[in-house]
Amino acid sequence: STAGLADRFGRVATDLRVSLTDKCNLRCTYCMPAEGLAWLGSDRLLSDDEIVRLVRIAVELLGVEEVRFTGGEPLIRAGLVRIVEATAGLGPRPVVSLTTNGIGLDKTARALVEAGLTRVNVSLDTLDRERFLQLTRRDRLDQVLAGLQHAHAAGLAPVKVNTVLMRGVNDHEAVDLLRFCRDHGYELRFIEQMPLDAQHGWSRTGMVTAAEILDRLSEEVALTPTPHARGAAPAETWLVDGGPDVVGVIASVTRPFCSACDRTRLTADGQVRSCLFARTETDLRALLRGGATDDEIADAWRDVMWGKGPGHQVGDQEFVQPDRPMSAIGG
Ligand code: GTP
Ligand code: 5AD
Ligand code: SF4
Repeated sequence: STAGLADRFGRVATDLRVSLTDKCNLRCTYCMPAEGLAWLGSDRLLSDDEIVRLVRIAVELLGVEEVRFTGGEPLIRAGLVRIVEATAGLGPRPVVSLTTNGIGLDKTARALVEAGLTRVNVSLDTLDRERFLQLTRRDRLDQVLAGLQHAHAAGLAPVKVNTVLMRGVNDHEAVDLLRFCRDHGYELRFIEQMPLDAQHGWSRTGMVTAAEILDRLSEEVALTPTPHARGAAPAETWLVDGGPDVVGVIASVTRPFCSACDRTRLTADGQVRSCLFARTETDLRALLRGGATDDEIADAWRDVMWGKGPGHQVGDQEFVQPDRPMSAIGG
């Protein structure tokens, strides 16, 4: 059959997020410890061809319309350009996008555009070199800024910037970051920190909420809700000083958007997840390596999504973090 990825709550997943590696060249304190994590072994990682096959099944048989590559840090995967090219060559052609920390993007942006990438989201939590070093444990702010510039120059549009604000760490930089992004033509989104870090150090009080972010910004600029419908986008957006510049807030915790979710996820080791916060995964790699047909794999994927829950329970007392951290799931 060619039925899509529907669930019991009337949602249909048309947006696939694929983690290409669980490794990263930064060590953001809200993500992983200084020493890194126990990375996936090469035998467990999907090969480039295996990834392309699963993406093809998602596009051709399951109705996926957008494919976003994530990590860990996807730019450290050697086959990235080839994988993007093969994905953009599928029919009907999906939108192909990337979420990255930007390191190395200065060198690969042009090749990625030629391969069919159309948009990119880059993480940037501070404009201060010392604070960047504290936050990511690496002295690489300049490389991120160069990556952003080259992404923009190569024609990726929009270039979005993702900022996680942390109380007492970088929250006073919100307005500076907004100004920087407006000056450079990047679309800034502030993100509420979620309990998905490897160290289990998240706390509700440490999290800077959407309401706080909006209050802070409103002291300096006029915010009006954007007129167009939000659809399934995690970010709520506001016009800045009447537009055309826009700022977004991704309030996963205080204003969950699960009821409109259109996502399905594939990890670098070939596990399908129905949700960022899902408690279970389904092993498509085993099916693939066991000789399953495309239709069998598509059926298994449909079953996973049919079992998708209504949403995360981050607000509940009984909330339990998923077994794997965000860097292994793919943001
Ligand atoms: P756009 O398609 O450009 O809007 O991308 P995006 O914002 O969906 O993706 P991106 O990879 O830039 O992620 C931004 C933030 O949204 C990260 O903190 C992600 O973890 C978070 N995010 C992405 N998808 C989901 C989701 O399904 N649920 C929740 N709660 N957060 C998500
Ligand atoms: N909560 C919210 N966002 C996070 N990111 C990484 N860890 C978390 C978390 N625990 C962000 C990164 C990147 C995006 C993919 O997700 O900063 O911008
Ligand atoms: Fe790497 Fe992203 Fe985690 Fe930072 S948040 S350590 S850039 S995977």
